[in-house]
Amino acid sequence: MLILSIETSCDETAIAFLNIEKRERGLFIKPLSNIVSSQIKIHQKYGGVVPKLACRAHTQNIDIVLKSALEEAFGKQKNYQKIFKKIDLISVTNRPGLEIALLIGVNFSRALSWFLEKPIIGVSHIEGHFLSFLLPNVKEKRIFLEKEKKDIFPSLGLIVSGGHTLLISVSEFLKYKIIGQTLDDAAGECFDKGARILGLRYPGGPEIAKLAEEFRKIKKKKNYSLNLPRPMINSQDFNFSFSGLKTALLYTYQKLTKKEKKKMKKYLAYELEEAITDVLAKKTFEAIKKYSFKSLVLGGGVSANKRLREKILERQKDFPNLKIFFPQFQYSLDNALMIALAGFFNYYNKKDRNKFKWNEIKVFANKIF
Ligand code: KG4
Ligand code: ZN
Repeated sequence: MLILSIETSCDETAIAFLNIEKRERGLFIKPLSNIVSSQIKIHQKYGGVVPKLACRAHTQNIDIVLKSALEEAFGKQKNYQKIFKKIDLISVTNRPGLEIALLIGVNFSRALSWFLEKPIIGVSHIEGHFLSFLLPNVKEKRIFLEKEKKDIFPSLGLIVSGGHTLLISVSEFLKYKIIGQTLDDAAGECFDKGARILGLRYPGGPEIAKLAEEFRKIKKKKNYSLNLPRPMINSQDFNFSFSGLKTALLYTYQKLTKKEKKKMKKYLAYELEEAITDVLAKKTFEAIKKYSFKSLVLGGGVSANKRLREKILERQKDFPNLKIFFPQFQYSLDNALMIALAGFFNYYNKKDRNKFKWNEIKVFANKIF
């Protein structure tokens, strides 16, 4: 099956082609192209995503991104009529996300589906993040055996991004139930807002991680007694709260003199990363302790954080039978291949193909699954 997928839920215009074949041994998953046009430069001076600007950039770029995805997958051609005929499914993110941003990708996909007379499916961005661990590099193959599912599920998903912080119980393949979530800011949002307080660029996660790493190398930890809180780390549920952490950082930083600010910046970046990752790792393993999950799957932009990955792996020694899956670093971040994968699995084996028509696809800005 050849799948064309489109993702515009936030500040990346992403389009991919993915080929999946059913063979005797299992499913052959082969990404053909993966184009991500980031709007970071546009939003950087505002310190976060400005919906109207995101929407304008998606509109201006979407056809150019499609052309790049076609070229990467099939080489430069005069026209792609023959390729368009071969497409078996169009998969588009229709939830959750910024409504006006989602609408650009969804309407573009609906038009393609109608014009090319191809089935279309609307999928959850969060489900895409969960499934990202299955993706190999572009032009490489991965075989997904039916029996692998038995080793993976029931699984716990930790999806951490700029908009969401979710603990999800996945009792079986494609069956999701949220068991915990943030009550205010998302983990990625805390990295972004924390970076802004410290005068660093958007997106904040990689910037904070870089300074934290530099601090670890100089190891002057002993000289600093300022600690940031680990909100809700001992609460008896699986929910999170990060807005108090951001405020604590703000008040701490505001009280410092100009000289102290300069001296303490790396330390505070380190402390912020430690605080966020401490809470995420602790709560994740509390959930693992409570339920009998066979695996833990991480996804979303914050799952690219090396310190988080380290802390998760450190705790694995207490659960020797637990399998842990991370996406490849480039697939932690928003991309359209994960949307192709989610579309494929939800379409595949469905009997009622009438539902997959262009005029059935709607946008749900706040619906997670
Ligand atoms: O999944 P994603 O690309 O977009 C959303 O769905 O929101 O996640 C973006 C978020 C941003 O908040 C960004 O700061 C964070 O992921 N992020 C990181 C790292 N790389 C990206 N956070 C911590 N460490 C990183 N290395
Ligand atoms: Zn995302």
